[in-house]
Amino acid sequence: MCGIFGCILKTGLAAPSIYDGLKRLEYRGYDSVGFATLELGTLHVKKDKGKIEDVVQRLSLNRLPGSVGVGHTRWATHGAPSMVNAHPHTDCQERIAVIHNGVVENFLELKGELINKGHIFKSRTDTEVIAHMIEEEMKGDIELGEAIIRALKQLEGSYALAVVSSDAPERIYCARNESPLVLGLSEKGSFCASDVPAMLPYTNKVVYLRNGEFAVLDKDGFDIQKIQDGVHVERELQEITWTIEMAEKQGYPHFMLKEIYEQPRSLRNALRLQKQYLDLLTAFLDRGKELFLVAAGTSSYACAAASYMFSKIARLTTYPVVSSEFIEQYGSSVGIDSVVLAVSQSGETYDTLKAVDLARMKAATVLGVTNTVGSTLTRVARAYVVQQSGPEIGVAATKTFTSQLLVLSQLALRLARARGKISQDEVDDLDDKMLKVPDIVEQVLGRHGEGIKNLVNKYNDNDLYVFLGRGISSATAMEGRLKLLELTYVPSLAYPAGESKHGPISVVEEGVPVVFVCPRGDSRRDILGSIMEMKARGARIISICEEGDEEIIGISDDMVEMPRGIPELLSPIAYVVPLQLFAYHLAVQKGLDPDKPRNLAKSVTVP
Ligand code: F6R
Repeated sequence: MCGIFGCILKTGLAAPSIYDGLKRLEYRGYDSVGFATLELGTLHVKKDKGKIEDVVQRLSLNRLPGSVGVGHTRWATHGAPSMVNAHPHTDCQERIAVIHNGVVENFLELKGELINKGHIFKSRTDTEVIAHMIEEEMKGDIELGEAIIRALKQLEGSYALAVVSSDAPERIYCARNESPLVLGLSEKGSFCASDVPAMLPYTNKVVYLRNGEFAVLDKDGFDIQKIQDGVHVERELQEITWTIEMAEKQGYPHFMLKEIYEQPRSLRNALRLQKQYLDLLTAFLDRGKELFLVAAGTSSYACAAASYMFSKIARLTTYPVVSSEFIEQYGSSVGIDSVVLAVSQSGETYDTLKAVDLARMKAATVLGVTNTVGSTLTRVARAYVVQQSGPEIGVAATKTFTSQLLVLSQLALRLARARGKISQDEVDDLDDKMLKVPDIVEQVLGRHGEGIKNLVNKYNDNDLYVFLGRGISSATAMEGRLKLLELTYVPSLAYPAGESKHGPISVVEEGVPVVFVCPRGDSRRDILGSIMEMKARGARIISICEEGDEEIIGISDDMVEMPRGIPELLSPIAYVVPLQLFAYHLAVQKGLDPDKPRNLAKSVTVP
């Protein structure tokens, strides 16, 4: 997730507006920044690694000449944060500058072809191919706009793009597929941005570009057409009534809620990872004698869930370990034959990095799954995958958790395929179902987004909650409990349902809400007994179960019915969503700020 801002002003310099626009998009990414402006047919490009304010001052970006320009604030996906990897990216002749938000999935293939044709690449980004592709298309004496469209037709993946070129000194070209881009118009000129907040100081009259659309901006307005067939699109300007603060959260009252609702998109991004990195990690996983899944907090529950996946389909025994315990528990035994897969959205969690240090010292193979390119984890891991969730502002992890799960599912499936321990048909079937997970999460949000509030109204005065699940759902239950605990501060318990009678059941009495996470699958049969056990003690049963599961529904006081079609092994990705919403709404009802729970930090970088 990066931030894009561009403008064509009727008078004055574009650069100060670009700076202002990018500052309002900083929440989308903040590892590097760059501007490209046009003045009398000359393209000026400056960029560097660092925070917007620092880079703008250091390079005097604010004073770049010209009334046309684009700017970019980056959240690295391909290539670590650095000057060369910062946007804008240019072609060989430095006549075309491209800024991009998204992921070009087939960039390696395209890059190879362009290199064969003599193009010289400066960065390790996927974006740079676009500038060279446009340059290549223009060799056939094709006009810039047409060359961009031809290039777009070859791209696979997601993009919001803004392109400027000395060949069209009064224009900005934009396009969108899956990544957001909004166009704005005022008496001062025309604008494009990743998001409305950047636009609001200049205009509240906007048009949202849709997937597969291309737009040409000049100082008096813009023209939109479909990329595929060039058909012209008429769309009325929309008036935005949000304040700037509301707009940063896209109208949601809190970042956490926005991030919960962003999950279908972040999950789709998590399915677009570069295959060669997944293959590399899979090869390392296959080689190890033992696999430790090391993480803290929410990430440790992603690991707990993943351990069921690796064991069930790849027949690989794994050890999910809370990172603060790793050294004490396994520090003496870990060695050259061990693989340590560290999972950390920030890539900076102290305990996880300490565990990784020790593992490296003992010559173990360290792998990483993170959301932060350029983080310490990416520097110390032998190989890593970046989950592409975009920055998460709410302190409580939501979208990064579900994307971690989806990345780990992909690794487990690849390993299953490589090891051939389950049938080809089973792997293919799981693969197909995995691709549908973002749609299922979208359905869950559509169906239950509002309904969960009623559930919260019913249960908001309880001073103890219990979360139970069996099998992989015990990890979902733990994560549901963690969300509730950290946001509402209400004491709550979570454990594998089968553990109940070994102690924890003693706290259950009349009226205590017990949340059962019970998708259909291998563990579903045994959960019935656990529910009856709790009912017998007067607990109020809330089930997160599959729609039409009458047996469970019949013995529950309340239920959240989940769409069919998600296999048990992938169920945590969807079944955690109602639990995220429950914790969020309960916190709001209690008058607490879900974005900033007390005593908690987004990234725990201290012992
Ligand atoms: C909970 C939460 C934390 C983090 C934990 C690990 O909502 O956000 O428990 O999951 O601090 O952080 P990362 O994944 O950055 O290592």
